[in-house]
Amino acid sequence: MKAGYDTIAVLDFGSQYTQLIARRIREKGVYAEILPCHAPLGDIKRLNPVGIVLSGGPSSVHEEGSPKGDPDVFKMGVPVLGICYGMHWMAVALGGRVHPSEAREYGRREVKIEEDGGQLFRSIVGETDTWMSHGDQLDQLPEGFTTTATSLTCPVAAMGNEQKHFYGVQFHPEVRHTLRGNEILDNFLFDICHAHSGWSMEEFERREVERICEVVGEGTVIGGVSGGVDSTVMAALLARAIGERFVAIFVDNGLLRKNEREQVQHSLRDALGVNLQVVDASDQFLAALQGVTDPEAKRKKIGHTFIEVFEAEAAKYPDADFLAQGTLYPDVIESVSAKGPSATIKSHHNVGGLPEEMNLKLIEPLRELFKDEVRELGRRLGLPEELVSRHPFPGPGLAVRLLGEVTAERLAILREADAIFVEELRASGWYQRVSQALAVLLPVKSVGVMGDYRTYEEVIALRSVDTWDFMTADFSPLPHDLLGRVSTRIINEVKGVNRVVYDVSSKPPATVEWE
Ligand code: XMP
Repeated sequence: MKAGYDTIAVLDFGSQYTQLIARRIREKGVYAEILPCHAPLGDIKRLNPVGIVLSGGPSSVHEEGSPKGDPDVFKMGVPVLGICYGMHWMAVALGGRVHPSEAREYGRREVKIEEDGGQLFRSIVGETDTWMSHGDQLDQLPEGFTTTATSLTCPVAAMGNEQKHFYGVQFHPEVRHTLRGNEILDNFLFDICHAHSGWSMEEFERREVERICEVVGEGTVIGGVSGGVDSTVMAALLARAIGERFVAIFVDNGLLRKNEREQVQHSLRDALGVNLQVVDASDQFLAALQGVTDPEAKRKKIGHTFIEVFEAEAAKYPDADFLAQGTLYPDVIESVSAKGPSATIKSHHNVGGLPEEMNLKLIEPLRELFKDEVRELGRRLGLPEELVSRHPFPGPGLAVRLLGEVTAERLAILREADAIFVEELRASGWYQRVSQALAVLLPVKSVGVMGDYRTYEEVIALRSVDTWDFMTADFSPLPHDLLGRVSTRIINEVKGVNRVVYDVSSKPPATVEWE
């Protein structure tokens, strides 16, 4: 399995930072794969890891049913780094003791690295800032371990067994607030595990193209594309591997942004040579949405119509053997963790889950990648930056941003307003600084005045958020003159709108979309 790079297994004990640990490791060119903490030893060994990281987790080792791994991981003969809960579980599994403490320690904490801090702290001595989040503390080290760092409130902030290469830290080295965290991870990966760092997007692309060719053979693959980053990158990769034998189906549901269909055609068909089939189903979607105002009912109608349209199109390719999907690594981990202890919160799922009777084998070329990595791959495959760094756009499209009934006229208003907002954000350099920006058409009209006339017209709400993971978000502090410019342009250029407001709520309790 020597692929020019090594693998680290990250066992997930339920921490919100588990994915971050894997990303940090991959950024360093070492492949990291996340497994649930209770994964059978065989699954861990199959990865042939050069080291194992035990993630943190929200539980206490003393709680009944708290997550546990297989203690035989300590017999695999590879170095192990336990972080927070991972260190507690390691300590208990190896005969140490952890005591529950009333107070939870959360936030920035200074720790003091012992003079002989061992290999993990090879390059670090004295005090350094770290990020802590824990309740329990170690009060008795397992045999063979020494204390390698302390803090005012925590007598064992880190421990190590140099002979066996087992290490534990009470703080989170993967979080940026831990100032020397990066070095600590480097020390673990390169000095302790001697990991080779050949994991890169170039290597991924080469390997994945090879794998697709092998799996698909002479077969044909069909797959839906939406114009979003994930499906575009997936299409580009498949086209690179099997050319015309990948058929990309793009359903125009009439709920797209301004010029979106043309852009998708241009970037996929013209620029990347993807075999793209465009289905114009806008009338069908609009008909299905007629008279529907309830948000959930809208989503259902859109989902069902999508399946109908997609199936009808797919039926034109009776020889297709595979269905391609742009599933990303976080979706994979989420479904794995759901069976384990992880306290992950369910995120939105796209419309278009396809029925099984289509009898196609699934192929998911991006299932090992994080979103940032997909973007990087997109750049490598020659996708324009504008597409690669585009804000997320929901599967049900403008329908979730149009409150009240979806009609062609109201869609046209929202589409124009959205285009102006995005244009001004791009022109002012703010588009890349915010995570997602959108316009919403409200289901109310309000009074205004234009010249000598009273008007009674639609209201557009602008929303822009900053977020790391879309689970929580803050409204973006857009400059007032920019907001003013967007408002003036929308009111002047979009017929039927006389008022523009800016949404200053955070998530939670609000959400990003309004629906
Ligand atoms: P909310 O509104 O839940 O949105 O705060 C969080 C993120 O999810 C996106 N979103 C969706 N994405 N299909 C999608 O593909 C959907 O139905 C959907 N609903 C919300 C939203 O745009 C934001 O990025």
